[in-house]
Amino acid sequence: MRIRPYIEFDPDRGLLIGGLPAVSLAKKHGTPLYVYSEDAIRESMREYTSSLSDIYPTSTIVYASKAYLTMRMAQLVREEGLWLDVSSGGELYLALKANFPPERIVFHGNNKSEEEIAMAVSAGVGRIAIDNVTELERVQKEAASQGVVQKVFLRLTPGIDPHTHEYLSTGVIDSKFGIPMHSGQHLDAVRMTLASENLELMGIHCHIGSQIFDDSPFLLAAGIMVDFAAEVRDKLGYVIPELDLGGGLGVRYKSGCPGICGRDGGRGGNPDVGGRNGAIARHLRAVAKRVKEACLRNGLPVPRLFFEPGRSIVAEAAVTLYTVGTVKALPNGTLIAAVDGGMSDNPRPALYGAEYDAVFAGPYHGGGLLSYRLVGKHCEEGDTLVRSAYLPRLSPGDVVAVLVSGAYQYSMRSNYNHLPNPAVVHVSGGKSFVVVERETLEDLIAKERPLPCSLEEAGPEVAGEN
Ligand code: LLP
Repeated sequence: MRIRPYIEFDPDRGLLIGGLPAVSLAKKHGTPLYVYSEDAIRESMREYTSSLSDIYPTSTIVYASKAYLTMRMAQLVREEGLWLDVSSGGELYLALKANFPPERIVFHGNNKSEEEIAMAVSAGVGRIAIDNVTELERVQKEAASQGVVQKVFLRLTPGIDPHTHEYLSTGVIDSKFGIPMHSGQHLDAVRMTLASENLELMGIHCHIGSQIFDDSPFLLAAGIMVDFAAEVRDKLGYVIPELDLGGGLGVRYKSGCPGICGRDGGRGGNPDVGGRNGAIARHLRAVAKRVKEACLRNGLPVPRLFFEPGRSIVAEAAVTLYTVGTVKALPNGTLIAAVDGGMSDNPRPALYGAEYDAVFAGPYHGGGLLSYRLVGKHCEEGDTLVRSAYLPRLSPGDVVAVLVSGAYQYSMRSNYNHLPNPAVVHVSGGKSFVVVERETLEDLIAKERPLPCSLEEAGPEVAGEN
């Protein structure tokens, strides 16, 4: 039975990821374990890169690395020909170390430091997405001091409520991100950029939010951005060549969620378009069509169009494997199964109330299922991974898998309670390989500098006067 692309259930072998049994992977690599199918990742990247080739060939897909970034992932993105969105010096550093071509990098962030800007400019990143006027001045100064002209986007906030979780909503006018499209600030920012000798204004950018299932806020944003490009042409005589509409397409975390555009269980749709059932293609085509219409209405040439998907490329491509440690029945009848990870490898349920499905990873031939609350091992009552998972009767040592684990989990991991971070394994061509090793207890204290004696005895070279 197919659960997600490249993730299936076989009654005799149990859960299979890219054809490999989850229980064998757990045995070989230990748990908790993030397991990604590279075929699934590549397939969604290809759906993105191929969807517009006929109707809007001047489009570029930028993978939002904040969803999941390892050096191997950067390599996959490079091989598939996408660009990469990084939003910190750390993500940029990793990308460069992985030999990602800098000219295909978009550098984001709402508070880039001077060091980060210097690093991005000297690396020769393709675009810096400028978030605010202070940053505009900083990037101009840095580019001037390095004697280069830096290509930039201006990140604008169009004032759209995408009706997603409050923490994931970034396009509302009072968002911390971007320059508000309000009382002329955005036009002033364009004017300043055009007047900056070392900046080349390539495009305007917006990202309205994340985990959005409805096309309408994206269509609205597209229209607003093109109308503004027309205003810039009319008032400043400059035709903005590029438009970046960010990411944000939602995915289906739980099976049976109605009416959403997760690629597997979405809205039916035209099977001829895109891979699987084509929700990515339908979404992109609808937005691209709206951009074209708005350009036609304004008499503007169509811009090169950028999209920045993160979650919809990687979320479904991974599962997290855990081993059950203890099982309890609470006085109110709730069954609890505690696993060897929790909110340190997946903070999303605690942070956003995100809901997941878990499945039994071993062979299973039917029989009664029980509802379990799957909890982690952290010292927090809120450390619940899955509120209600229907699983066969569990015993210590059983392996369970939390599905749709590929986005914003590994990248948002922590060491709460000093739990070492899990390993990350990729599966490709029937083989599994470690792309990030499991942390050791030693790693956890590697940066500690305990004093060998009292502070007074340590002397001025340890704790000098400020
Ligand atoms: N572009 C920009 C400028 C962004 O800020 C983001 C996500 C994306 C693209 C990619 O959005 P996606 O396609 O992945 O929705 N930690 C949250 C999600 C935060 C999203 C932040 N920005 C979560 O776990 O749901």
